[in-house]
Amino acid sequence: MVQKIIGPRALPHNEQGEAFAPSNIALCKYWGKRNSDLNLPLNSSLSLSLGHLGTHTRIRANAFKDEIYMNEQRLDPSAQFSSRLIAYLDLFRPASDCYFRIDTHNNFPTAAGLASSASGYAALAMALNNFFSWNLDGASLSILARLGSGSAARSVYDGFVEWHRGESEDGMDSYAEQIPAIWSELRLAIITVSRAVKTIGSTEGMRRTVETSALYAAWPEKATRDIESIRHAIWGKDFAELGGTAESNALAMHATMLDSRPALLYWLPETVAAFHKIWRLRQDGIQLYFTIDAGPNVKILFEEKNEHIVRGEFDDAEIVRPFVC
Ligand code: PMV
Repeated sequence: MVQKIIGPRALPHNEQGEAFAPSNIALCKYWGKRNSDLNLPLNSSLSLSLGHLGTHTRIRANAFKDEIYMNEQRLDPSAQFSSRLIAYLDLFRPASDCYFRIDTHNNFPTAAGLASSASGYAALAMALNNFFSWNLDGASLSILARLGSGSAARSVYDGFVEWHRGESEDGMDSYAEQIPAIWSELRLAIITVSRAVKTIGSTEGMRRTVETSALYAAWPEKATRDIESIRHAIWGKDFAELGGTAESNALAMHATMLDSRPALLYWLPETVAAFHKIWRLRQDGIQLYFTIDAGPNVKILFEEKNEHIVRGEFDDAEIVRPFVC
């Protein structure tokens, strides 16, 4: 599939290629793969990119071996993180003895507990595009990023992004597109409950859910309906519809996880306490909604007018303004 996008590999390259890609949080989640080699999803998803929070990556040619640096630290080549990245680079080497040096920086606080794979693989695909001067369009970059990590397919754009699940077996129609809407007042707060690496990664979590959860049968249809309402909410700037649908979507995804055997529960007591606090504030008339990925950390969706309340109620929250430069 890579050949279909970049053509024959024996290309000259530039001295270096670099790119930045934002992190993203799904409002309608991707949960379940129809092909795990190509990261092809069973449902479409829709996300919000996190503006300046993300990954900057630079790639250069290297003699003898690949070297990967993250935030200035050289990574152990045998670590799982490095082997996954090296396997990804294998897809693009013009010759088997062509090696790379990768320098990657995440500018979101490690404490935020954000996954780095979405912005990481999107930035790497974009840096490779610059290094080899492929001049790829957004859809092709999204496909290449997806091969590294599913959610990376959405991180090649800013703002609202929809990743179409696609139908074809080779995945050439499974890519993301930007929804060209701007919502300057929209805010997101990241509540970090734990920084620990999760014990069950998303690939294994998805496999287990798809194979064992009876509730999963209802998920793809729910995702299709939720994307419709989120799109509608975005264009009508209907915050209650946006937040309400995103919250319900995240809880439904977690319901399928709970229904798996063995059950998957990513929440900690502090996670549930945050849900209750958000619900309580909402009952008091403050429009806050949450979403949550395959981990214990909670993300609150709110509008600018409530920023002081979120700051006061959640003092450690990292506040993101997705549409503010
Ligand atoms: O891209 P992955 O394999 O890390 O999967 C991401 C899964 C969720 O974060 C739970 C949902 C999503 O759409 O980002």
